[in-house]
Amino acid sequence: MSRQLSRWSMLAMALLGATSAASCSATTGAEPQAQSPSQSASEQVDCSVQRCVALTFDDGPDQFTDELLDTLKATETPATFFLIGSKVQKLPGTLQRMAAEGHQIGSHTWDHSDITKLSAQQLKQQLDRTDAAIKKATGQSPSVFRPPLGHHDKAHNQLVPYPLVLWDIHTHDGRLKNSEKIVKVTMDTVQPGSIILMHDPRKTTVQAIPEMVSQLRAKGYTPVTVDQLFAGEMEDSVVYSSAPLDPAQQ
Ligand code: NI
Repeated sequence: MSRQLSRWSMLAMALLGATSAASCSATTGAEPQAQSPSQSASEQVDCSVQRCVALTFDDGPDQFTDELLDTLKATETPATFFLIGSKVQKLPGTLQRMAAEGHQIGSHTWDHSDITKLSAQQLKQQLDRTDAAIKKATGQSPSVFRPPLGHHDKAHNQLVPYPLVLWDIHTHDGRLKNSEKIVKVTMDTVQPGSIILMHDPRKTTVQAIPEMVSQLRAKGYTPVTVDQLFAGEMEDSVVYSSAPLDPAQQ
């Protein structure tokens, strides 16, 4: 009897030890860091178990970008912006706000050039000028790149010092110019891990976002940045068009 008790107490002690060690490391890992409220909320997202989706906006900043930022802030929705360098210098305040409110910032070249038609030197200049403009406005460099028109090839990809982000959902917002249709196209085709292509210089696109976010959330989707969608595991010069993980099929 006493031998049995002592075995139980040893087991209990071992379990207690394991529990306290686990809770100790968990506490250490969860140390709060200085960041904006939207960042801290969204960084808790685990896209390996949640139905994540990345809203992405190209060709800005432009006249409706601040209105879009208002919507994203009101709905606590992080997004990713692929910016045109020559426009960035015209709206530094919008850029500062974009960065401060936790959105991911990417490059979309200086003047929307098809990178497959550029020399290595021209491509470098396009990327460097855009990087400098974004850095001047926000203090940070772009972390991802989207090739204008989606045009890319192996030789040019090798020269791009960022992950190349394409999309799996083309909303055709430039052609549709209709908020309801933009939402419908998205909702008809979205799946966990999707990257949605939109354009913030389009008024009807910006006006579609409140309803799109509402419908996505109603279907159990969590909007995240591209970086969050891939859990920060992206490589330079590699092309991504959606996240490989599909929680719905786990
Ligand atoms: Ni574009």
